Amino acid sequence: MAITNQTAPLLRGVPAPASIWHETPLLSVRGLSKRFGAGCDHCRMPSTDEREASRCKYCGSIWACRSLSFELHPGEILGVVGESGSGKSTLVKCLYFDETTTSGEMTIANFENGEANLFEKSAQQKRYIRNHIMGMVYQNPYLGLRMNFSSSGNIAEKLFAADQYHVGRIRERASQLLQQVEIPLSRMDEPPKNFSGGMQQRVQISKALANNPPLLLLDEVTTGLDLSVQAKVLDLIRSIQRELQVAMIVVSHDLGVIRMLSDRTMVLRQGLIVEQGLTDQILEDPQHPYTQLLVHSLL
Ligand SMILES: Nc1ncnc2c1ncn2[C@@H]1O[C@H](COP(=O)(O)OP(=O)(O)OP(=O)(O)O)[C@@H](O)[C@H]1O
Ligand SMILES: [Mg+2]
Ligand SMILES: [Zn+2]
Repeated sequence: MAITNQTAPLLRGVPAPASIWHETPLLSVRGLSKRFGAGCDHCRMPSTDEREASRCKYCGSIWACRSLSFELHPGEILGVVGESGSGKSTLVKCLYFDETTTSGEMTIANFENGEANLFEKSAQQKRYIRNHIMGMVYQNPYLGLRMNFSSSGNIAEKLFAADQYHVGRIRERASQLLQQVEIPLSRMDEPPKNFSGGMQQRVQISKALANNPPLLLLDEVTTGLDLSVQAKVLDLIRSIQRELQVAMIVVSHDLGVIRMLSDRTMVLRQGLIVEQGLTDQILEDPQHPYTQLLVHSLL
């Protein structure tokens, strides 16, 4: 893997270099759909008509994601924005194999030349992909961290999963990662349950980065944090992207967060993409009435 974040210090306040996106996307997703519930004759297939609700009125099943297609380039940040229940978390959980996808394809350039549909891989191969190619930061830090392990132990766990067993090197890497997210080294052996919400999110971020993943998934990473803490976490995410060139999918119901972070944005509503494009364009000239509403409420 070309990406290393072993040595890169996190410099602050350095302007982002003009991104040169590679021709080949890192991640390609085609027709990703996820249904919760058994389905019936009326909802066997997800409707892509946005006038149709995501919930089947006959059987109550929900198409949380309806035929989503998009690409992510190396080092790029893609924002996913939408109201509560629009399918944002379901999307990232499908990408991280936390949820089983009902239909669709996902390829990653670093795995089998980008030719394999990862949703069809065995559980063991999915674990490998998760542990070696992806990092995930959950909205709820309790899902991403073992609160009773030490913070360094949390990072060690991720490194073990990625087949790194050298105790000395693991310890060194853990202290380096925690320093990057500004957790004092004197606290690296403390369990995250002792930490504030913002610190827990920073430990989660360092854990997600431990295996140098080219792809990081962040679900509502700043929701519920104080504005000042939010700003710090956003700043950290930007420095990581700038210096490590990690590609990210950043999920938020807050267009302000998306505006700060993402190059391109995808607007979800009722499990459908209603608009996608360059973030600046979406903010300046939103096309869909729902996006117009989001943008106007930001002003
Ligand atoms: N495990 C589940 N079982 C049944 N339905 C679910 C499940 N998880 C999510 N859903 C449904 O799927 C839809 C999308 O939910 P999801 O959590 O992806 O939304 P979201 O955009 O992340 O919302 P929020 O902004 O509130 O986090 C919702 O209608 C939700 O009720
Ligand atoms: Mg969510
Ligand atoms: Zn149905």
